[in-house]
Amino acid sequence: MNLLCIIASALLQLVPMPARMQVRDGSFKVTEASRARMAFVVDAACGLPEEGYTLEVTRKYVKAVASTEAGLFYARQTLRQLEKDGRIPCVKITDYPRFRWRGFHVDPCRHFLPVEEVKKQIDILSSYKMNVMHWHLTDDQGWRIEIKKYPRLTEVGGARIEFDGSVHQGYYTQEEIREVVAYAAERHVTVVPEIEMPGHGIAAVRAYPGLSCSKETVSTFYTWGTPDLSMCPGQEFMFKLLDDVIAEVVTLFPSEYIHVGGDECRKNRWEMCPDCQARIRALGLVSDDAGTAEEKLQSYAVRRMEGILAAHGRKLIGWDEILEGGLSPNATVMSWRGEKGGIAAAMAGHDVIMTPSKAGMYLDHVQGDPKIEPVSIGNYTTLEKCYMYDPVPEVLTENGKAGHILGLQCNNWSEYLYTYSHREYMLFPRAFAVAETAWTPKDKKDWDSFRVRVDAACRDLDRRGVNYHIPLPEQPGGSCNSLAFYDKAEVAFTTTRPMPRMVYTLDGSEPTAASMAYSKPLTFTESATLKIATVTSYGKLSPVRTITLRKEAPWPAVTAAPEKGLKGFRADGRFVCAADLGNAIWKEVSFKRLRDLASLEPYNRNLPDSTRFYAARAEGFFRVGETATYRFSSDCDQVWIDGKCLIDNGKEVKRFSRHDAEAVLEAGAHSVKVVFIYNVIGGWNSLHNKTEVLVKKAGEEKWVPIDIVK
Ligand code: ACM
Ligand code: ZN
Repeated sequence: MNLLCIIASALLQLVPMPARMQVRDGSFKVTEASRARMAFVVDAACGLPEEGYTLEVTRKYVKAVASTEAGLFYARQTLRQLEKDGRIPCVKITDYPRFRWRGFHVDPCRHFLPVEEVKKQIDILSSYKMNVMHWHLTDDQGWRIEIKKYPRLTEVGGARIEFDGSVHQGYYTQEEIREVVAYAAERHVTVVPEIEMPGHGIAAVRAYPGLSCSKETVSTFYTWGTPDLSMCPGQEFMFKLLDDVIAEVVTLFPSEYIHVGGDECRKNRWEMCPDCQARIRALGLVSDDAGTAEEKLQSYAVRRMEGILAAHGRKLIGWDEILEGGLSPNATVMSWRGEKGGIAAAMAGHDVIMTPSKAGMYLDHVQGDPKIEPVSIGNYTTLEKCYMYDPVPEVLTENGKAGHILGLQCNNWSEYLYTYSHREYMLFPRAFAVAETAWTPKDKKDWDSFRVRVDAACRDLDRRGVNYHIPLPEQPGGSCNSLAFYDKAEVAFTTTRPMPRMVYTLDGSEPTAASMAYSKPLTFTESATLKIATVTSYGKLSPVRTITLRKEAPWPAVTAAPEKGLKGFRADGRFVCAADLGNAIWKEVSFKRLRDLASLEPYNRNLPDSTRFYAARAEGFFRVGETATYRFSSDCDQVWIDGKCLIDNGKEVKRFSRHDAEAVLEAGAHSVKVVFIYNVIGGWNSLHNKTEVLVKKAGEEKWVPIDIVK
């Protein structure tokens, strides 16, 4: 991008950047009277690509021309972004999208969001020229679309009882769905529904147990991941129900495409199911290099879905697992496990939507240091990484197959999106990066320009009451809010992308944009409370981090010879956090390693009602080689060192050890007590955790498990 263009784009702050734009002197003043000189013309013969438009703003008039109403809608969005204080700068723009599929995905299954919030997302993202909403309406944790013929799908499958006894529920009536689809259509957004099969279907199985191989009753399902309970393609009931469901779905969604899922379906039960095996034999499916017999059974099921959709004149989309065991003849593939599936599908002549999770399209991934960002599903997707993703792999261009890439999509899975405001925090501003990649020609994209322009889009979010992410001050090498030292400490900060400044206070007051600016690492020789935040170009602060720094004498090592090994205890019951353990009845158990804390019951990803939850405690001693500041990290509920509670994860989701803490320890042996609770907080099954306590000397990179005296 040339310098003039960067200056112009920074000045005009458009997102996404138009395909072609000339900036001229002067501006058009918007008044009641001058509105009569703003013309919006549909001209089918104008020669512009579908959804494209031209826009001419002079001092005297504004004229937008497009071949479709969609094009004019996008011209209006550009005008809306250009207008400042009642003036629109003079420009000449010719603009059209790079891709026809500019998707965003909404997951109401793990956490439900009501119609008004769905509309809010449509409203905002359509104004940044996104045009497909992929509505993920069914999953293990919830069935969210009313189906008149099968009312139990929402009566039973639309609600779940969580570990703590609370109920999470909600579904969209058919009337509400029509309302959303119409609202989206007014904004030129196509709503593509997803009805998942044959995996991720426990909500449906709970409603109609006959859908599964074992026909077992499942009372509730409230954890995340990939349970090994799928629908049974050995029986006709699955196809009958899905056929009936699709018959209702097509009356609600005019979309050419219907998404049938197909991802993450565990097939172990099919291996033991007489019906599935009978179907495999009848179809003559055998395991070979092309896939296992069970993968081919899934492929058979997806093909039948393709037939069901075709009978209604619709096309099938599935996640890239639908390639396994053979792709249905006319399927479109949504490539999420990287680009490999998408490339294979496009090379075979299928259309593809790119949404590779780890390449930046999963907006549920954490966007800063996981130690201080709200708990998430993990991974790491900064705004820059998201922006840099390009959905057309070179190999497809080289082979003349790039035309099969319909576009790209960002996905906002909601396992860890407990509130609507947090949904927005994860979505924005990263969805703006996706919008620009989806719309703007590749050679017009420029990160340095975008990261400036994105501020205008964020200010727009402020005006519209939308939450979004502002990079937090982070400590290089890992953030920690509980620091300790015995002579002095130096604390440095950075941000995931360049920000105008960070500000801080040391007197306990909340920082403002006018507080002291951070310019170099801070040195502490006394205990302190540091409050620090990032400031945007428009003076808005990120969330404030509060960091305590304790100046302390080294905690003395034990003087007597430390006992060897670990003492272990177990208490049965459903405990939410360590504070609930007051009346726990403890029994001695034997632990060799801290890892054993999570081994007292078998890990069962399905968490049946018979699951025996428990709390466990391990006590012992560990050694440190020299007197120094040590930082501790653990996903257990509590870690006590020398009788003091250093880490308490409270009622939080126990992932990514978000309560690391430091202590100054004298060389030698110290006591440790670790409390672990097998429970499910926020959908996370803690038995999945490694129940180590990790330690490193302050300033070092590498964590190691504490060295238990044996
Ligand atoms: C997916 O993320 N399981 C499609
Ligand atoms: Zn079966």
